Amino acid sequence: MTDNKIATVELGSGGPQVGVQGLGCMGMSEFYGDTDEAAARETLETALGAGVTLFDTADIYGSGANETFLAPFVGAHRDEITLATKYAIERRDDDPHYRGVRNDPAYIRQAVENSLRRLGTDVIDLYYMHRRDPSVPLAESVGAMAELVRQGKVKHLGLSEVTGAELREAHAVHPIAALQSEWSLFSRDVERSAVPAAVELGVALVPYSPLGRGFLTGAFTDAGKELAGNDFRKFQPRFTGDNAKTNAALLEPVHKIAAAHGATAAQVALAWVQQRAQVHGLTVVPIPGTRKSSRLLENLGATRLTLSAEELALLEPIADKVAGDRYPDMSNTATARE
Ligand SMILES: NC(=O)c1ccc[n+]([C@@H]2O[C@H](COP(=O)([O-])OP(=O)(O)OC[C@H]3O[C@@H](n4cnc5c(N)ncnc54)[C@H](OP(=O)(O)O)[C@@H]3O)[C@@H](O)[C@H]2O)c1
Repeated sequence: MTDNKIATVELGSGGPQVGVQGLGCMGMSEFYGDTDEAAARETLETALGAGVTLFDTADIYGSGANETFLAPFVGAHRDEITLATKYAIERRDDDPHYRGVRNDPAYIRQAVENSLRRLGTDVIDLYYMHRRDPSVPLAESVGAMAELVRQGKVKHLGLSEVTGAELREAHAVHPIAALQSEWSLFSRDVERSAVPAAVELGVALVPYSPLGRGFLTGAFTDAGKELAGNDFRKFQPRFTGDNAKTNAALLEPVHKIAAAHGATAAQVALAWVQQRAQVHGLTVVPIPGTRKSSRLLENLGATRLTLSAEELALLEPIADKVAGDRYPDMSNTATARE
């Protein structure tokens, strides 16, 4: 840390230099209950002031609203930030529950134009394929993404929720800077094949939902009962009913370790990701999501927290005991294709 800013790291070999923790912006527009635009804007500025430079969005967050929301911030700080967005998940105005996956080159060429327009910029620093459609050859999709790099519309490429084999296949077409996949104390599928491939290829991992969508912080216990109707977590298998009860009990060592350090559960969860990555010899830039400046600063405190070998051993068995899948429908995840 220098000048009260977090340290920086290269995001994948040949990738941009970014702060060691990024910021997930999704909840600023959708999925986690009511949003507060003024507080979210303050959070963006607090993050940048503290050395966070990787800002993560996607075209589906709020059906484009999250990109539009970010545009003024992008305009004010274009050269100071690394702007990441994603394509591939299609929504329909007439069916709020519809989710299609599109990887075909024509769709990609249109999606990037839409994102550039909404973000108010002429270049995206990191452009991810959000989900994989196995019916489209990966080389075709990554080839279309590589063309965007040649055209100067995109600087670096990323993939989300792909297997190790898919990461290798894509990297052979064009260098992939980052893999964005769920990775936390509760979700370790990625360590099976994607992490070893990323290490081998020099691809950085950008863990999404590193706080288990907030569950690991203890902020809520049973989403079904405690969260508002417009909160997506209310319908996730891990966060309701008997599963939630089982999973909340698994957090006991997290709270115990936090208390021993005078830290919070969120900080322990984020420090675990950083230290687990070191075990693998992997570069990681977690992107915890928060709409609040105070939590953003709390989460950055994890970069100064070191867990002992004994503490890591206490956390090791948790993931295997988690009840419930990561999503109600796992068919679009890398886990389903491994
Ligand atoms: N590639 C993908 O498929 C994918 C999927 C999901 C997410 N993402 C990206 O990853 C980012 C992060 O993931 P996520 O937002 O799903 O989950 P997360 O970072 O694990 O958790 C976010 C939740 O935790 C709460 N929170 C944050 N810091 C906290 C703290 N210190 N104490 C208590 N609660 C805290 C937030 O609430 P407040 O906002 O109220 O603080 C929010 O509800 C997203 O913003 C998005 O950019 C990508």
